[in-house]
Amino acid sequence: MGKPTRFQAPKGMHDILPAEIWRWQRLEAAFIEAATLHGYSEIRTPILEPTDLFVRSIGESTDVVQKEMYTFQRHDDSLTLRPEGTASAARAYVQHAVQALEPISRWYYLGPMFRAERPARGRQRQFHQAGCEIFGDPGPTCDAEMISMLVSMFVDLGIGELEVSISSLGGPETRPKYRSVLLDFLRPKAADLSEHSRARIEVNPFRVLDSKDEGDRAAVEGAPSILDYLSDEDRAHWDALKTQLEALEVPFRVSPGLVRGLDYYNRTLFEISSSAGELGAQNALAGGGRYDTMVEDLGGPKIPAIGFAMGLERILLAMGESERVVEPSCFVVPMGEKATIDGLVLARELRQLGVRVDVDGRQNSLKSKLRRANSSGARVCAIIGESEIETGTVQLKDLLQHSQEQVPRDRATRIIADRLLGSTPRAGGND
Ligand code: HAM
Repeated sequence: MGKPTRFQAPKGMHDILPAEIWRWQRLEAAFIEAATLHGYSEIRTPILEPTDLFVRSIGESTDVVQKEMYTFQRHDDSLTLRPEGTASAARAYVQHAVQALEPISRWYYLGPMFRAERPARGRQRQFHQAGCEIFGDPGPTCDAEMISMLVSMFVDLGIGELEVSISSLGGPETRPKYRSVLLDFLRPKAADLSEHSRARIEVNPFRVLDSKDEGDRAAVEGAPSILDYLSDEDRAHWDALKTQLEALEVPFRVSPGLVRGLDYYNRTLFEISSSAGELGAQNALAGGGRYDTMVEDLGGPKIPAIGFAMGLERILLAMGESERVVEPSCFVVPMGEKATIDGLVLARELRQLGVRVDVDGRQNSLKSKLRRANSSGARVCAIIGESEIETGTVQLKDLLQHSQEQVPRDRATRIIADRLLGSTPRAGGND
């Protein structure tokens, strides 16, 4: 037999080990709290969807659809690992005819997304998003509230150097008008553009404005701004959004060149980036916008919608290091058979009062168990040996203050709980 294969997680996909999971849990809890305070309820959808769902909603000419989807064939169906959550939410909305149940739905979700991109700092192939979607509200009030919620949440998480970029892509009246103005601007410049952008002029001229290529950037400088071509209705929506953001004291920058990589947007478009922490070039923390035609495009009724998603890995990079808050806990060290039985019972009693407990039931030496107790982060260590069993006592070691006392076994549970939880441990225990 040869050397066994040492498997690795797939490229661009990462394990999140217990030593770092607390940062994720803290971030997720902050997101869930903010979303709940704003009236959102959680939705969970499958991680796989029919491939066509993404092709139709995200758009055939996008990088995501053209190059980044994990697609496979099974039982005659083409399935794709979701590259984002919006299409799935809209699919679920249509499938369950949710508009018949309530006029406005506010949904949030959290979970892994998959895009076969080139891995870099802040760019994975499996990454995690938390997102919100609102169905049934044409805005602009909910647009302003959504952006404001995101900014407050980032500020509360201690993320500085935030930049909020907003734009409007207009609606069905504005888009064709602007498209033809943009084509008139781009066509004569075709020779100066990269091959990639040149191929996109006719297919999706908006995307040319978003090119990262230096030459393309220079060529599109001075391109007409969509904001100058907004229809009256689109302009009223746009102006109200800005007024409401100002009222909410959200600092923003108007960025008419903001395009984003997904084709489903109209009207409000936004992105929040930061140069804080260890973020590198991938500095977009969250992005979103309106997609008022997606529900109808997927076979549902005419229902306006808006949403955003934020990348959890990037937010964690931007948050930098933070102090872990360790819940107080007790480490039980029994020595010998009888003591082990009593240690188990003591641990159960403590847990019933809400105390976290670790019992070291190994037959190792006292020294090695105490070493583990010390490195466990526990505040109190309860030692039970043969002599404690005989005298009906427990040795309590305070690992913070380095003191030790002997307490009666029948009062030990209450004493430990009082010390770790304050004087009002959770009801329901027996001691
Ligand atoms: P998106 O801009 O493609 O939008 O992604 C949102 C966020 O997900 C990005 O700002 C970034 O933080 C994170 N992200 C995207 N790709 C990666 C990656 N490969 N690695 C790490 N993080 C990544 C959407 O996905 C839309 N569904 C947002 C939306 C919701 N629009 C309307 N509703």
